[in-house]
Amino acid sequence: MADLDTLVAGMPKAELHMHLEGSLEAELTFALAARNGVTMPYASVEALRRAYAFTNLQSFLDLYYAGVNVLLQPQDFYDLTWAYFARAKQDNVVHAELFLGPQGHTARNIPMATVFDGVLRALDDVEQKLGITSRLIMVFQRHQTEDDGFRCLEASAPWHKRIAGVGLGGAEIGHPPQKFARLFAECTKRGFRKVAHAGEEGPAEFVVEALDVLGVERIDHGVRAEEDPALVARLAKSLVPLTVCPISNVKLKVFPDLAHHNVKRLLRAGLCVTINSDDPSYFGGYVNDNLIGCRRALDLTRDDVYRLARNSFVASFLSDADKARHIRQLDDYWTSV
Ligand code: HPA
Ligand code: ZN
Repeated sequence: MADLDTLVAGMPKAELHMHLEGSLEAELTFALAARNGVTMPYASVEALRRAYAFTNLQSFLDLYYAGVNVLLQPQDFYDLTWAYFARAKQDNVVHAELFLGPQGHTARNIPMATVFDGVLRALDDVEQKLGITSRLIMVFQRHQTEDDGFRCLEASAPWHKRIAGVGLGGAEIGHPPQKFARLFAECTKRGFRKVAHAGEEGPAEFVVEALDVLGVERIDHGVRAEEDPALVARLAKSLVPLTVCPISNVKLKVFPDLAHHNVKRLLRAGLCVTINSDDPSYFGGYVNDNLIGCRRALDLTRDDVYRLARNSFVASFLSDADKARHIRQLDDYWTSV
């Protein structure tokens, strides 16, 4: 029998926390810069990669927001999207729910149509040619005003049918979920699914606010929920999923290393935990790197990794029938190996 890490790599899985802009690899950045005549502030791919040494969330966000400057044409957004899925295919990702932050592009005078046309054409091709299904989640930047979020919501109206849900990303400290209460209420009226980053750098209290004030159905990160035992009990009971990103948490100094990450404790406490890559190019790991890294550092068992993959389908925005089909295929996989 193959070793457990090989089986983890081969198992079908969904990825639910991945920022499209955070999958922009340094090589593609330079290729797009050359194609678009953009001057790079780094001499080489290696020099750019060397800059990926972060001290906290903001130090990452500064590079992440600057990194998108090479994305100018619909084809650039197409290539970015395609590249992520080509890589995800190698990790046996069969379904992915992607974050896209239009405010980071419209602020650079890139029309919404450029962004959505490129991304959506790629998602269609990916489903047809790679057989990977997807959903799009539009994230509002929490350092921007709520009014700016409303402008983003209005400007994206032509594509709302193709946007499954909305989320909240960016600088957490100083920007509590409460700041976006009216915006999320409007998104509820319009029938969007709702998620929010909370409890990454921010306190457990922000997770409670995201649940109670924004009414989200999934928490992105949420690892600091552990600081509030009543909240952990609530998450275990309600099974509101957490989309945890372990390598991201280590790179942004939320945990010193994977061996000290709390994902195993949260999983064993009965929470609906999933493992994801967040911004794979910046943090140097795709979903299998995260799963296998945790398996080794935390000595996860076969049942733990099965449960993580099963949770990835359960927590997705897929229909109940599609969830059941994926879980059957996952079960078949584990009985066949
Ligand atoms: N946290 C908040 N905002 C983000 C992240 C993250 O980990 N990645 C991309 N935008
Ligand atoms: Zn994220």
